[in-house]
Amino acid sequence: MTRKFIVGGNFKMNGSVSSLNTLIEGLNQGDLDSNVEIVVSPPFVYLDQVRKSVRKDIAVAGQNCYHKTSGAYTGEVAPEMLKDLGIEWVILGHSERREIFKESDDEIGAKVAHALKTGLKVMACVGESLEEREANKTTEVVFRQLAAIAKQINDWSDVVVAYEPVWAIGTGKVATPDQAQEVHKAIREWLSTNVSAETAAATRIMYGGSVNAGNASTLAKEEDVDGFLVGGASLKPEFVTICNAKA
Ligand code: G3P
Repeated sequence: MTRKFIVGGNFKMNGSVSSLNTLIEGLNQGDLDSNVEIVVSPPFVYLDQVRKSVRKDIAVAGQNCYHKTSGAYTGEVAPEMLKDLGIEWVILGHSERREIFKESDDEIGAKVAHALKTGLKVMACVGESLEEREANKTTEVVFRQLAAIAKQINDWSDVVVAYEPVWAIGTGKVATPDQAQEVHKAIREWLSTNVSAETAAATRIMYGGSVNAGNASTLAKEEDVDGFLVGGASLKPEFVTICNAKA
């Protein structure tokens, strides 16, 4: 089963009208591997600008969304609103949403279900903290997070799983290729056991956590690493190198 390599750029709460114009201009001129699916994710307020300026072979994602279509939810954004802007993807369950904004596994499962129903494709984030890893609870945590999603959806064809060990996010401490491969393989085996062998074979699993131009090509060689979800380095010209890591 060949799985198309996918690279996401999660800009997080960064950027301005002018800085994102410059960033997207640079990306538009980049010599990008046509076999890689690229998705960029600016803050909500810049989605329309980026959608309208980024080259058409690059998709755009929201960094979050709510699990309702409309209503009295001040500050929230419905998946339908992302779709209305021509946005194709949404990142859900990011560890920063879980840790800082206290989003529960079940809430994230509901968000994934509603986003898929709306026709969005989802990058669903899972990952353990340093304490959980040191307590040998990595797969227990990741499987719990996956189960909360699996409980609420039937079809995984528009889901990409993003394994993002919290201890590697923004720290410069990237997982080793063996560490990443071990958990990606476990995720694929979990999908095979708990969803189906077809879903397991087809579902792409991205790695996220201190990916940069220096480590991307080595990580990309791992059998179950199907892409990257990049934070800090997606705001830099090296993002083009990361997108070409599989070339
Ligand atoms: O969603 C991707 C992000 O969490 C990874 O961040 O800065 O470690 O690449 P960074």
